[in-house]
Amino acid sequence: MALVTLGELIKRAEKSNCAVGAFSVGNLEMVLGAVRAAEETNTPIILQIAEVRLKTSPLELMGPLMLAAAKNSSVDIAVHLDHGLTRGCIDKALEIGFTSVMLDASLLAFEENIKATESVIEKARAYGASVEAELGVVGGNEGGGNAHKILYTQPALAKEFCERTGIDALAVAIGNAHGNYPVLPALRFDVLEKIASLTDTPLVLHGGTGITADMFRTAISLGIRKINIATASFDALAGHAKEYCSGTEKANYFELSTAMAKGVYENVRKHIEIFNCEV
Ligand code: 13P
Repeated sequence: MALVTLGELIKRAEKSNCAVGAFSVGNLEMVLGAVRAAEETNTPIILQIAEVRLKTSPLELMGPLMLAAAKNSSVDIAVHLDHGLTRGCIDKALEIGFTSVMLDASLLAFEENIKATESVIEKARAYGASVEAELGVVGGNEGGGNAHKILYTQPALAKEFCERTGIDALAVAIGNAHGNYPVLPALRFDVLEKIASLTDTPLVLHGGTGITADMFRTAISLGIRKINIATASFDALAGHAKEYCSGTEKANYFELSTAMAKGVYENVRKHIEIFNCEV
């Protein structure tokens, strides 16, 4: 049994001064590809799915699949709800057995965000699960809807937020955004450094797609302990599917499935190797 909490994996990442990769999944091939990359590199990962993705990949189906993959894996895996937006969805994920949840109340006012986070923590603790929250606003969007404008995390507020809530991980906004960046982002490492100097709470970098290996390593050296990758895996799956279909007269489901899993595997493996800081 290799199902663990996000808190446990982040603690280990802290000790080894690396970051744990949190890879978004939306179907069987994505789960298979991500888990294969984790097993072949003998590296723990987080399998995650965002609430906005549940329209195409229902929680009742994806949840048990992700949990079974984690339990049957040869490496430790946490199963996480990414960007939980509603209390109903967060509660359901905990009831299904997710070992961590993110409450994204970043669009609420500071005090409201704290109140909502405290309430989720109380529920999650009853399940032995970890909680991630967000302060400031990460740009873009994590699937449909309008793009959010980046609002940088204010270091002093981050300190207060972590102290008052006792969350396991804090997602920070330092110029990062979800989706493909139109141009390479100028991440505010000075803001990250300041936040890290004020709190011991492990920090999370969202919007990993398109960030360079050097930038990841700098972020890790400044205290990032969890890095989210979604778009790059969805794109890798779609790209491999397209390549397979355009290279054959008659597409075969089994070969197509293998091609999709391979695309995700390659993307996840590439990121695992960077996050473990193997230069
Ligand atoms: P990307 O889609 O940019 O990789 O972002 C992933 C993420 O942060 C999910 O929460």
